[in-house]
Amino acid sequence: MSTEKKYDVIIVGELNVDLILNQLPEMPVPGREIFAGQMTLTLGSSAAILASNLSSFGMKVAMIGKIGTDLFGDVVIAHLERAGVHTGMIIRDALLNTGASIGLQFNGDRGMVTYAGAMKHLSLNDIPLNSLQLARHLHFSSYFFQPGMQPGLKSLFSTAKKLGLSTSFDMQTDPEHRWEIDYHNILRHVDIFFPNENEIQQITRKKDTEEAITAISHLVPILALKLGEKGSLTVHGGRRIMRPAFQVTEVVDAIGAGDSFNAGFLYQYLKNAPVNICQDYGNMAGAISTTACGGTAAFQELKSLDQYAKEKFGYPVACVT
Ligand SMILES: Nc1ncnc2c1ncn2[C@@H]1O[C@H](COP(=O)(O)OP(=O)(O)OP(=O)(O)O)[C@@H](O)[C@H]1O
Ligand SMILES: [Mg+2]
Repeated sequence: MSTEKKYDVIIVGELNVDLILNQLPEMPVPGREIFAGQMTLTLGSSAAILASNLSSFGMKVAMIGKIGTDLFGDVVIAHLERAGVHTGMIIRDALLNTGASIGLQFNGDRGMVTYAGAMKHLSLNDIPLNSLQLARHLHFSSYFFQPGMQPGLKSLFSTAKKLGLSTSFDMQTDPEHRWEIDYHNILRHVDIFFPNENEIQQITRKKDTEEAITAISHLVPILALKLGEKGSLTVHGGRRIMRPAFQVTEVVDAIGAGDSFNAGFLYQYLKNAPVNICQDYGNMAGAISTTACGGTAAFQELKSLDQYAKEKFGYPVACVT
């Protein structure tokens, strides 16, 4: 990437491990024990999966978040560093536990239990705002998992914009189903908003996706709406683009598909590619992510996303290099 900045992207967000239990005979019920056929301990969290995958694509990425000084914290750091992510700005607090998500995969669906831990304690005061100018782009993930960041998020984004960065935001789900977020004001400082259908319906209190799109799309330059197996929809400058998903014959799991979409999209966005190409790369990275366990495994051996796309999908995506 040709730039004089130290980083292409600084990502602020939650950090945790995922312990994924596959091949369950049924969902566990109180008072009984069952065997899982397979287990993976890997990097979890929307922000970290994005960081790892963007770095695997060749972007220079730095991560800011909060973890403990425990073994799960070591797993997070080791995984990010193996992917080439700069971890020097991650805060390690000896009094807090690193968060963990336990994923139970059964019958093509999954249940998750998350202990948020240290991520809940990250606040704007922890973030060295002058370091933002080291990057071209700022991304923030997982609003509802990080109550400590909520009061300062608008300020984080507006500071980044004042320093000349572009910005993106993936709000993610609200496990407490309250969906309280001042999105009108936050999105004023965001260039790309990366929700899924349920998320925009919930925050706008609309039952219909079309109504939710109408309520959101004029607030932000690019709305990139993730639609799972249906692909994605973007609204940009009054123009809508619907692009179908790439066909995956054997889906292992959809963990991190949304974050991988963000990574593919930003990879092209930061090369100044047009929105339709960003979107195709988002769809492609989301699809690739479903071919391996967790959100990062499919990209670990990746030499080039463009090459991989040709080999895996026979898809000659026009791209900006
Ligand atoms: N089964 C699938 N087959 C092909 N592509 C998929 C599949 N699932 C997801 N994708 C691709 O990945 C993108 C993002 O996935 P999804 O819509 O599930 O995001 P999300 O709801 O934000 O997920 P997450 O739980 O990771 O936050 C989709 O827009 C699509 O392009
Ligand atoms: Mg998502």
